[in-house]
Amino acid sequence: MAERNYKIAMIGGDGIGPEVLEAGHRVLQTLAIEDGGFALSFTGYDWGSAYYRQHGLMMPADGLSQLEDYDAIYFGSAGDPSLPDDITLWGLRLAICQGFDQYANVRPARLLPGIVSPLREDLGREIDWVIVRENSEGEYAGIGGRVHRSLPLEIGMDVAVFTRTGVERIARYACELAMSRPRQKLTIVTKSNAQRHGMVFWDEVCQEVLVDYPGLDADFTLVDAMTQRMVLRPWSIDTVLATNLHADVLSDLAVALTGSLGIGATANLDPERRRPSMFEPIHGSAFDLVGKGIANPLGAFWTASLMLDHLGETTASQRLMQAIEIVTSRGEVLPPDLGGTASTADVTAAVIAALRGANN
Ligand code: IPM
Ligand code: MG
Repeated sequence: MAERNYKIAMIGGDGIGPEVLEAGHRVLQTLAIEDGGFALSFTGYDWGSAYYRQHGLMMPADGLSQLEDYDAIYFGSAGDPSLPDDITLWGLRLAICQGFDQYANVRPARLLPGIVSPLREDLGREIDWVIVRENSEGEYAGIGGRVHRSLPLEIGMDVAVFTRTGVERIARYACELAMSRPRQKLTIVTKSNAQRHGMVFWDEVCQEVLVDYPGLDADFTLVDAMTQRMVLRPWSIDTVLATNLHADVLSDLAVALTGSLGIGATANLDPERRRPSMFEPIHGSAFDLVGKGIANPLGAFWTASLMLDHLGETTASQRLMQAIEIVTSRGEVLPPDLGGTASTADVTAAVIAALRGANN
C-alpha cells in the first residue's frame, strides 16, 4: 500500500479535453507506480456540452458538492461550437473556479528545451515566467446586464469588480510566489492611466501589500506596454500579477512565445486549501482536432506536474517535467503543433519511456 493516497476527479469535458486527460491519466499512473510512495485514484465525470444537451445543465445541480471531497480536479476543456460560449463556460469551468473560490490562477511560461520560439533565439531563451491571474472577480465578476433588447437604446454592460479582499489576497499570493523564485521579481500589470477607479484601487492595494515584502524587486507596468516588454525584453520579467482579463490575454501571448498553445498549463488554486483546486491545460477544446489522435498532450502533462506539486508530491512533479523536457529536447517525437508528426499516443509513450528510463 502506498503511504499517500489522493482522490482525483477527472472532468474531460469537451473537444480534445477527454483525449489529452486520458493521456495525462496514463502518465500520472506510471509516475505513481514508479515512485511507489503515493497512489492516485481517479473518478471520471462526463460533464460538459454532451451532458448539457441531455440534461440542460453543464453539470448536475449538486456538482460542486460531488467534487468537494476530492484532493484535486483534473480538467480538460469546456466549449462547443454548437453552444453559446457563455453557457459552456459559466456552467462548468467558471462555476467550479468561482464556486470553490479558486482565486489564484497560475500559468507558467517557459521555453522548453528543443522547442523553437517565434521570437529571435536569444530572446526566446529568456522566457521563464509565471503569470498569476486574479481568478475570482475583476472583469469576470459576472455582474452586469442587458436591457431594452433590440431597441436603439439597448445597453449591454459588464462591470469590472475589484474588492479589497480580492486584490489583497491575490497580491499577497503573487508576492509569496515571486519571493520563492530565484529572482524575487514581480511585475504588477495595470491600466490605471485609463481606468481611474478600479485600476487605481488595484494599484493602491498592491502597493500596500508590497510594503510587507521589502526584499522583492517589484514594478508596475501598463498592460499595453507589457505586451511589448514580453516580446522585446523578455529577460526583464519573472513573476507577473494581472487582473482576470489582462492575464487571460497576456497568458495566451506568453504561451505562443514559448512555441504553442498546446503546451500551456494552468492551476486554479485555492491557496488556503479549503476546497479542491483545479488543473487544466490552456489550449481549450480545439474541435478541429477531435478524434484525429494528434492533440498535443504536453499541456495536460505539464498541468499534471502542477497538480502533483500542489498535492505535495514535488519529486514526482519534477520528474514529470524532466521527462517532458527529455522528449522535447530530443525533438524526435513531437506533435504537429510543435512541428512534428507524432500522435497523442506516440508523445504519451515517449514521455512514459522517459519516466521509466529516468528511474533506472
Ligand atoms: C482561459 C480561457 C477562458 C478564459 C475561456 C475559455 C473563457 O481563455 O482559460 O484562458 O477566458 O478564462
Ligand atoms: Mg484564455
